[in-house]
Amino acid sequence: MSEGKYIIRGGMPIYGTVKCMGAKNLATKTMVAAMLGGSPSCLINVPQIGDVDITEHLIQSAGVKTIRNADSIVIDPTFISKPSVFFPDSRSNRIPILILSALLHRFSEVTVPAVGGDNIGNRKIDFHCDAIKLFGADIKVQDGFYLASRRSKLKGCDIALPYPSVGATETCLFLGVMAEGQTVIENAAIEPEIIELITMLNLMGGIITRRGDRKIVINGVKSLQGTNFRIMGDRIEAVSWASLAGASNGNIRVCGIDPRTLYNFLPYYNMAGGGYRIINHDEIEFFRATEVMSAVQFETDVYPGFSTDWQQPFATMLTQAQGISKVHETVHDNRFEYLSVLEDLGASVSTGQKCIIQKCRYHGRGYNHSATIHGATKLMGDGKVITVPDLRAGLAYVIAAAISEGTIVLNDIYHIERGYGDLISKLSGTNLSIRRVCQ
Ligand code: EPU
Repeated sequence: MSEGKYIIRGGMPIYGTVKCMGAKNLATKTMVAAMLGGSPSCLINVPQIGDVDITEHLIQSAGVKTIRNADSIVIDPTFISKPSVFFPDSRSNRIPILILSALLHRFSEVTVPAVGGDNIGNRKIDFHCDAIKLFGADIKVQDGFYLASRRSKLKGCDIALPYPSVGATETCLFLGVMAEGQTVIENAAIEPEIIELITMLNLMGGIITRRGDRKIVINGVKSLQGTNFRIMGDRIEAVSWASLAGASNGNIRVCGIDPRTLYNFLPYYNMAGGGYRIINHDEIEFFRATEVMSAVQFETDVYPGFSTDWQQPFATMLTQAQGISKVHETVHDNRFEYLSVLEDLGASVSTGQKCIIQKCRYHGRGYNHSATIHGATKLMGDGKVITVPDLRAGLAYVIAAAISEGTIVLNDIYHIERGYGDLISKLSGTNLSIRRVCQ
């Protein structure tokens, strides 16, 4: 991951074709799943993004051998020799705690660096730690590392997650799949990427079934073998380009995404005046269906709700919608800081602590988790230099820059490249004027 900045000249409708990569929030997890096999796995449609690079370095430091090609990676866990993972030489992500769970089947003591990732709220790991303890291990945090230990084999258990956390569900899957006996996860996350992860673990020989709405039952197995697995298209990336098309009054054909995985996004796009045409099982085209976009109210939620990771690109599009849009963020407690930058560019936005649509778990706790957007407003770049604080805010700024008159310079673009890879080649099939310069 090299340092650099993007220079974007905006003010034109964006037309063209963009290819979605494999899903970031699945690819890195399948790399950890592959560590559980007794033989190599081959992952296909792996995105070329910073988060995959970081994860590759993390698992290599435990002894995993990898062979990476254009969009595939072979992960050979048979060389795992170390019960520890070092700090990556680049910035960390959310994956170390998952690696800890995978390694805990092989070693009785495991050390991994603390998780990093975007600064979008508290992002505690208490559910992970509680689950690790229920499986019979101990975990403590010391000097920026997590240290876990167990006296005997991990034992299946009953876990009721206080909230359907994606990461904590993954921790339970990695622990339960090879623990002794049965594990039952209640109130599990059921995002499509979680279901795909379960599919991969079952292809490896796991016995994991879904019962009812949010219950997952795991019958622990003694061993797993490697498998071949294709990473699904990135639904968050697809929504980013849909938002760019709507915001700029352009037309973007998005390939590499199964339109059905966007079924819970398309109604909101529709309500805002966005249009779409399904081209085939792997392609969808986005544009404005109405000349003027309309304000909408929405709240983010766990799947099948409106994904929190769609919030920033979509809300940026809503700065171009007529009327008052309202956004209630119920998943992360601090995901609106990017709005002050949009305000500097000319958007009319405000944030507040009140729950807008219905009371959520942040009610009365002092978090700025609601936003109001008055539109439509003209955005002006005027050569402004903006520092990107996190991945999705970064993409929101790319959209904002594309619809602003004049030029905008984005710094700290490693945040963007951690999840979207190199935007220059990705957007080369569009007319967006974007340059990358090294700092
Ligand atoms: N939470 C706790 N304690 C825990 C775990 C979670 O309180 O032990 C809370 C978090 O603080 C948060 C909520 O539960 O308020 C949801 O967190 P979750 O564990 O579901 O998130 P995550 O696994 O850390 C993944 C994605 C995020 C995405 C969330 C929610 C990855 C690498 N990250 O994070 O993606 O927002 O699920 O869907 O899978 C992104 O891609 O931009 C991104 C931030």
